[in-house]
Amino acid sequence: MKRIFIPLLLVLFVAIGLLARFVTANKSVASGKDWAEYLGGPHRNHYSTLKQITPENVDQLRVAWEYHTGDTGQIQCNPIIVDGVMYGMTATIQPFAIDAATGKEYWRKSYKDKDQSSTSRGLVYWKKGTDQRILYTNHEWLYAVEAKKGKPVIAFGENGRANLKAGLGETAVDKMVISNTPGTVYEDLIIMPLRVSEGADAALGHIQAFNIKTGKLAWVFHTIPQPGEFGYDTWPKETYKNTEVGAANNWAGMAVDRERGIIYVPTGSAAHDFYGANRKGSNLFANCLLALDTKTGKRIWHFQFVHHDLLDRDPPAPPNLITVTHQGKKIDAVAQVTKQGYVFVFNRETGEPLFPIAEKPVPASDIPGEQAWATQPFPTKPAPYARQTFTEADISPYAINQQVLIDLLKESRSEGPFTPLSKQGTVVYPGLDGGAEWGGAAADPEGVLYLNSSEMAWHISLGPAASEDQLASLSSGQQLYTLNCTPCHGPERKGNPHSGFPSLVAIANRRERGHVGSVITHGQGMMPAFSKFSKEEVQDLVAFLFEEETDSIKEPGLAKTEAVPKIPYEISGYTKFLDSLGYPAVRPPWGTLNAIDLNTGEYLWKVAFGEYPELIAKGIPQTGSESYGGPVITASGLLFIAGTKDGKFRVYDKSNGALLWETKLPTPAFATPSTYEVNGKQYVVVACGGTKLDAPGGDSYVAFALPDAK
Ligand code: HEC
Repeated sequence: MKRIFIPLLLVLFVAIGLLARFVTANKSVASGKDWAEYLGGPHRNHYSTLKQITPENVDQLRVAWEYHTGDTGQIQCNPIIVDGVMYGMTATIQPFAIDAATGKEYWRKSYKDKDQSSTSRGLVYWKKGTDQRILYTNHEWLYAVEAKKGKPVIAFGENGRANLKAGLGETAVDKMVISNTPGTVYEDLIIMPLRVSEGADAALGHIQAFNIKTGKLAWVFHTIPQPGEFGYDTWPKETYKNTEVGAANNWAGMAVDRERGIIYVPTGSAAHDFYGANRKGSNLFANCLLALDTKTGKRIWHFQFVHHDLLDRDPPAPPNLITVTHQGKKIDAVAQVTKQGYVFVFNRETGEPLFPIAEKPVPASDIPGEQAWATQPFPTKPAPYARQTFTEADISPYAINQQVLIDLLKESRSEGPFTPLSKQGTVVYPGLDGGAEWGGAAADPEGVLYLNSSEMAWHISLGPAASEDQLASLSSGQQLYTLNCTPCHGPERKGNPHSGFPSLVAIANRRERGHVGSVITHGQGMMPAFSKFSKEEVQDLVAFLFEEETDSIKEPGLAKTEAVPKIPYEISGYTKFLDSLGYPAVRPPWGTLNAIDLNTGEYLWKVAFGEYPELIAKGIPQTGSESYGGPVITASGLLFIAGTKDGKFRVYDKSNGALLWETKLPTPAFATPSTYEVNGKQYVVVACGGTKLDAPGGDSYVAFALPDAK
């Protein structure tokens, strides 16, 4: 009797367990027919319960419609779909609404003042009774429009818009403050991500909640604490005044547990990104996961992923709210992916790590005055999804200039994932863009995380900045260039096209003066706007770029450059560590797709992700590649993903990583897809904007569906 009884009981227990898991999962995973929120729902799990498209029929997918926006450039948008209407953003941040079954346009905004200084990852839908609103950002504004017609909601803020600088204090007035990731809704509040400068002129990156009905600021959490607040003593005393240190902003977006009323906020590094001698200390709440009370903004718990960050190691994506079983107990957890290749898993309520986290010694900085933190946190499980060291044995076997790369590696510092920048040059690996990036991870109700990861090293040095005397001897245009533009476009204006920073050499032959001036003032794609420059300053900059002698600012000495606080060191540029043909200097894989079971901390599978067609043609096995934009998974067992420069849209079997189907998109799509159902038909849509990674530009959203589905 006993013998039969025990297995029966076990079966019963497992069944109850599964049922309970299913019930919690359904309560929390939002996406059904609609894809009503960024990344599929408040838990940001990129997960849909739809099942029409299956492993068996996926090879029959066809283009259902293509919507052209007419303004080409990077589109990072994950569109939302509500009741058969799709809301998205164009490359120049013009919101639109289209029929999600046909691509027919309902409305579209056109901003005359061309305030398009960024790129947008999406918008927000909010409904109360018959009041339906769409919220999105453009420049320093949060806009609210009526969902049906796109008309401004006049009652919101100042005639339909609220200023994102509202709670940032006086120092923000002349500084760049925008937001390229959609906010997170809790009841009538929207909690907003921010993008600020990453230099010494960065605004404060406080977390702000706005009332969706009125546009009024509801609460502010200080990510750089003020006197008397927790964490204040982890900075020099005056840091909160924002004279030469700022940021610690949430740019990646957030996830919310609406049942518990807790919002999970990953914060970026303090700025300056690469120089911290003027911000000695661990620097709370930079590089943290914050669990805040959604109603008040009060801190419940926090964990810091990088102490005193010197490598721009922001947690790059919203966390995933998942449910896992640990030591026989079901736990509602929060998982955060990072650029350095780790996923940290915590109990959602207490912040207790589910896998122990070890503080391990890391290398010191040799930059005068810099005090790199002596230890950093490493989770004991799961293992990193990106390689952690770069030695001679890691040089790519396909590089034709191997010796040059070996020599460069030998003269450089390369001592693991937390090697500080140095005068002689440092191999930053995992690279500045991860590991994980803003596409983030998908997660299913079983507690498995699906993540694309890049394996690209960068090579950067940190050297003394130009002295006041050196600057004073330059024309005003060159001064402005040296102080503001060199980190991205390089001291010789050659940029780094492979890394996405265009050369400005001989730009006079390619571009109109007015265009160049406008790019400087308003920004373009990932180029920030320099709206702080006066007309004369822009003229002088353009004159310098056009290699003319004329200066409109005649006073001798320094031009009006107080706007940029000077720090004594500057980086050589945002440069990837590449071989002479432009391929990564590290041996493949250059990108992977991973399935990690967060119940056990073990990998279910890992495959190379992305390819270089010309290398495949030479018989080189699939190398993988960098990717931007995350996966989407469905209850029918599929994983959809674009994100690579090869321009493919791929569908994998999420149980084993087998590639089931692929197609070529009109242009590479650096965005996360969405999936939804209208009139009984399931669609998968992805924004194809190109332009990242030196890819051609595009302007469309492409939707796929099965031809025969009703
Ligand atoms: C944070 C990095 C960054 C900084 C700082 C920066 N740029 Fe850029 N810039 C970019 C990127 C990225 C692009 C490409 C934008 C796109 O089209 O997507 C770009 C594009 C441009 C272009 C257009 C080039 C073309 O071929 O059309 C001009 C002109 C330009 N930048 C000038 C400047 C000047 C002048 C400054 C300093 C005042 C500056 N940039 C500072 C990143 C930067």
